[in-house]
Amino acid sequence: MDKSSPFSAWCITPARALASRTWREAFLQDTQAHDRQELHEVLAAHGIKQDYSMLDLSRTEPVLQGWGSDRPIFERLLTEFRPKILAEVGTWRGASVLHMHAVAQRLELDTVFICIDTWCGSAEQWTEPEPRPHMRLEGGFPTLYREFIANVIAHNAVRDIYPLPISSSAGARTLARLGVTADLIYLDAAHDEEEVSLDLKLYWPLIQNDGAMFGHDYDWPEVKAAVDVYFGRTNIDLEESYWIARRSQVRPR
Ligand SMILES: C[S@@+](CC[C@H](N)C(=O)[O-])C[C@H]1O[C@@H](n2cnc3c(N)ncnc32)[C@H](O)[C@@H]1O
Repeated sequence: MDKSSPFSAWCITPARALASRTWREAFLQDTQAHDRQELHEVLAAHGIKQDYSMLDLSRTEPVLQGWGSDRPIFERLLTEFRPKILAEVGTWRGASVLHMHAVAQRLELDTVFICIDTWCGSAEQWTEPEPRPHMRLEGGFPTLYREFIANVIAHNAVRDIYPLPISSSAGARTLARLGVTADLIYLDAAHDEEEVSLDLKLYWPLIQNDGAMFGHDYDWPEVKAAVDVYFGRTNIDLEESYWIARRSQVRPR
């Protein structure tokens, strides 16, 4: 591995590299993808395409279902930041990203969305009575990814959405390795303190200087604890059960 690249710095001493202003500046200078065309080129060069012709969707119904996926905050933040690249970490069946996609179209933004999810569910979705049936296990495996893609196709959003079926931490490292930064990152993946803390640490450096990160379920004690520790309570704004951290206003401690 090239020891001079930002990613190698991340690999060697993750915590110190992420905390390092020098590292972040080096990473941002080295980024290759800030808009649709650049993102398309870098992803295509790594074999990541929006071609679902090999996916058997013949038994898959496009059913949208989520939690608070169309609240006013999405339109407010898209209006404020007018993102070229928006990364969503935790997509499920696509209700929130497809809502943001519809808002972006209405606002005539040229936003391209990256969706990072294992499409395998989180611990509470495997164990709690309300979400568990939505996993619709087939042969022991959730059918979420196929339902998500069926929804993306049904909403005519294929060109505007790139799925990365990968863990959130591997997703952040993939974006860093490919030199992708985002104007907005929406965190709605795992909800336990350790994983949320790691997501905050890995995704915060991937936000453009004038961008922001926001997330759902601040009313979950573990999410709240991770967000408060990472940003400091006074550095975030709250709206309903969402938290928002604007890069221009926050310096992680
Ligand atoms: C609450 S759902 C997302 C809901 C979606 N944002 C919406 O509003 O419709 C959480 C999603 O995060 C994914 N997830 C949980 N932990 C993850 C992790 N560590 N890496 C990647 N995806 C994860 C799950 O597979 C699930 O699809």
